Amino acid sequence: MSDKIGEAGKKSAAKRALSYVRDDMTIGLGTGTTAAYFIKYLSEQVDDGLTITGIPTSRATEKMAKKLGIKVLADFNGVIDIDFDGADEVDSSGNLVKGGGGALTREKIIAASSRMFIVMVDDSKLTEGNLSRSKIPVEILPFMYRLTMRKLENMALSCELRKSFTTDNGNYIIDCDFGKISEPAHLESQIKMLPGVVEVGLFVKMASKIIVGSKDSSFELTY
Ligand code: A5P
Repeated sequence: MSDKIGEAGKKSAAKRALSYVRDDMTIGLGTGTTAAYFIKYLSEQVDDGLTITGIPTSRATEKMAKKLGIKVLADFNGVIDIDFDGADEVDSSGNLVKGGGGALTREKIIAASSRMFIVMVDDSKLTEGNLSRSKIPVEILPFMYRLTMRKLENMALSCELRKSFTTDNGNYIIDCDFGKISEPAHLESQIKMLPGVVEVGLFVKMASKIIVGSKDSSFELTY
């Protein structure tokens, strides 16, 4: 992984998140570069004797975790203690945009079934006030996708099909610009009501804790 701007913050958030992991926990393993740092640090603790079970939020995460020696379950019907994942944008109330990596549906399923949802971000992901900077990823069925996309276009400022991309679920992603989002819960439910929509990357009031990392320090926001 390169040392681009933000990487140090991602690493420090991921390191701090590790302090919440205890022996015998079942934990959600997120997707993306920040989650990948977390999984790498976690695997070092597993090498040192930590016992955990990981529930991956994508095929990429499953593959990475297995390769690093972490026990993972691809199917599960129990309680996840803590889910650890990254985000693309965080507003002042802790609402998130997720899905830059296209794993939003599996990420939301796991986050919604966890006792605690810990989000790890570098400080560039924080937005003062309402969500406004990220396009909102919407996972839709490929069947007649242009009809679903047209409905989204009627609601958004603009929408774009993510090129040459299919999700782990075999679906498409439409990235939509909604400008400043003052009512994320309302927008989330409006989008989810459209036939053909599988999931939307708005995670409203789901995070229990946001761990924010920067080059020299880290801090936590609790909800
Ligand atoms: C994956 O689908 C996303 O939700 C990621 O969690 C999000 O895009 C953050 O990714 P990075 O940690 O790579 O910035």
